[in-house]
Parts: sequence; structure tokens; C-alpha cells
Amino acid sequence: MPLKNDLLLRTIAGEKTERTPVWLMRQAGRILPEYRAVRNSLSGFKELVETPELAAEVTIQPVDILGVDAAIIFSDILVIPEAMGLQYEMVEKRGPHFPETIKSAADVKKLKVADASDVQYTIDAIKVTKKELDGRVPLIGFAGAPWTIFAYMVEGGGSKTFSKARAMLYTDPELSHQLLQMITTSTINYLKGQVEAGTDLVQIFDSWAGILSPTQYEKFSLPYIKKICDAITEVPKTVFAKDAYFARAWFGKINCNTVGLDWCMDIAESKALIGDNKTLQGNLDPCVLYGSEASIKEATQSMLNQFGPARHIANLGHGVYPDTDPGKVKFFVDMVKELSVRA
Ligand code: CP3
Repeated sequence: MPLKNDLLLRTIAGEKTERTPVWLMRQAGRILPEYRAVRNSLSGFKELVETPELAAEVTIQPVDILGVDAAIIFSDILVIPEAMGLQYEMVEKRGPHFPETIKSAADVKKLKVADASDVQYTIDAIKVTKKELDGRVPLIGFAGAPWTIFAYMVEGGGSKTFSKARAMLYTDPELSHQLLQMITTSTINYLKGQVEAGTDLVQIFDSWAGILSPTQYEKFSLPYIKKICDAITEVPKTVFAKDAYFARAWFGKINCNTVGLDWCMDIAESKALIGDNKTLQGNLDPCVLYGSEASIKEATQSMLNQFGPARHIANLGHGVYPDTDPGKVKFFVDMVKELSVRA
């Protein structure tokens, strides 16, 4: 199925396009009343993730309602720990919780390397979504970076410091590497399955990149992201490592096509560090969308000016916050479309 709107893919390939493509991290979900209606009819978040027809429906909602240039499959990065044998719960208004965590070699021994078929519900959701999208926009697949997944598996949930996870890197580096490698192989299997099912590109979320020192990041995160990027040869790859200022120059040299920036990363500096053979994605502060339309327009224009006319995918610098007015989100999408048009 050829894509009717392939702006995103042409931008990734480095082409000068008629305008800048736009989508939002975390666009599928929470901000839309249409999402909440589907979600409230179910037992919870996991039932939605695990029901392919409904996951496809909420994946497509932002394409219809917001007019974004890509869909991102509705799932979560935490499906991988579960596929490896560590169940998670999504606690209403609080976030993820793992009843069992990884503390020792014996715990790692109980895990398995996951296969794409262990996450069959998301693979099926991708197939249904591709069919229903009918080529309107590309579909983005995703996974967590091994370090971020490791952090949840060791910590057992969200944390301000992730000190248990960071501690394990010092107390048992060998076991840490063993677990990171198991997560990496599982992630490669999963992403290959996503690509086979029809995703047009994939994004790797290293949400907890910024809590590691550059030295620890270079040892415990970067090599595994690199392995994933080397293994996925079929589609373009985006790496988004939140708060990892120090990693930008490294990402310029690995086998990824796009680098995501958060809103604290200076655009000109990022361009210089990453180089011109990658596309950049981002990076408006999600809080811009709480402001007036005039201030959203001004911030969007300023962002577009700084990134320039090519090799930029407009997005926020992190996921859209749940209480953002969908009208403001739509206004941002419309502004990118209007202000970036070129002859
Ligand atoms: O981007 C999208 O729209 C696609 C769907 C998507 C979800 N999670 C759905 C979700 C994606 C890409 C993710 C990625 C994800 N999940 C990350 C990386 C991106 C980031 O934000 O840094 C992380 C760290 C997680 C783990 C996770 N899932 C947390 C910490 C939470 C609770 C806090 C929160 O953001 O709500 C979730 C729950 C979650 N994942 C929700 C959604 C729509 C909200 C739950 C609900 O609707 O009940």
C-alpha cells in the first residue's frame, strides 16, 4: 500500500519537502475525549492495549481529529518486561507498578528472551491499523531503550531517582549487562515483528537517559541502542533520549536516521553536534500548549525558524500532557502546516 502522505518519510530521507511534517509524542490517548470514551468502557489501560481493534481505533483518532502526519501504535514500552516474564500493572492515576522486580541473578534467570509473538496483541493491532489507515499516513512502531526498560524492571515503577536501577550498574555490572542484553534481543525481535506487521518507521524511547552520567550512559545505554539500530535495517529509526545532552554527538554517529530533541536542548547546538546527515525531531516545550493561540503561534514560528526548512519533524520535546486542551493541540498542528509551507 503506497502512502498518500509520505512527508515524514521524505523528510527523514533528507528531501526538501513542501512543508514540515508534524505529530506529537503521546498523541494517542488521554488528551482526547474520544479516547477516554473508549478507555472508560473497559477494565483499564491494559485491556485497551491488548484488544487490537480498539488499540487500532485510538491509534487512528489523532489522525482524524488532529490532522497529524503520522500515527503511532497504541501500546506501551512496558509490554517488553511482561513478555520477558515480569508482569506490570497500570495503576489508575499513578502509573506503572511491577509486583516483582529484578534484584539478583536468580531473578534474571527466571526471565526469557521475548519473541514478537509474545506481544501478539500489538502485532495484531499494527495489522488492523495499517488496514484501516489505508495509506493515509505512515505508522510509527516503538519500544523503550534497554536502559529505560531495565530501570523499570529493577525499580518496580516510576521513581524520582531510580537509585535501585542506577545502583545495580555499580554493584553488579556483569548482571546488569546480562539483563540489558536480554532486553536488547527481545526488543530487536519485537521491532522486527512490528516492521513485518507493517510499521513504516520505529522510535526508541530512552526516557530515563538523563539520569545516567555520560560515562555510565556510554557503557550501559548507548551500546544497546546501537545494537538495535544496527539490527533494524528495514525501516528508518528514531532515537529519543530525554535529557541526554551528552549523547547528541554520539547519536550523530550511530545507525539511526532521526534524533529526537527535548525542549531544553538548544537547536543550533544540537544541529552542530549531531551533524547534517540526520533528521531532527522536536522540540517545543509541552507547556507551550497551555498558552494563548498567539503565544503558541510565536513559539512554533521560532522553532521552525531555528530548525530550518529541511530535515525537521515538528513535535513536542516530550509527550503531550494529559490535561492539554485538544483544541490547542490542533492549533499547534495547524500552525506547523501553515507556517512551514515553502514554494
Ligand atoms: O505516543 C503514543 O500516543 C502511543 C502510545 C504510548 C503510550 N506509552 C501509551 C500510554 C507510548 C509511545 C508510550 C511510551 C511510554 N510508556 C514511555 C516513553 C515515553 C515517555 O513518555 O517518556 C514511558 C516511560 C512509558 C511508561 C508509562 N506508561 C508510564 C510512566 C505511564 C504512566 C504515566 C502516564 O504517562 O500516563 C504509562 C501509561 C500510559 N501509556 C498511558 C498511555 C496513553 C496513560 C494510561 C491511561 O490512559 O490509562
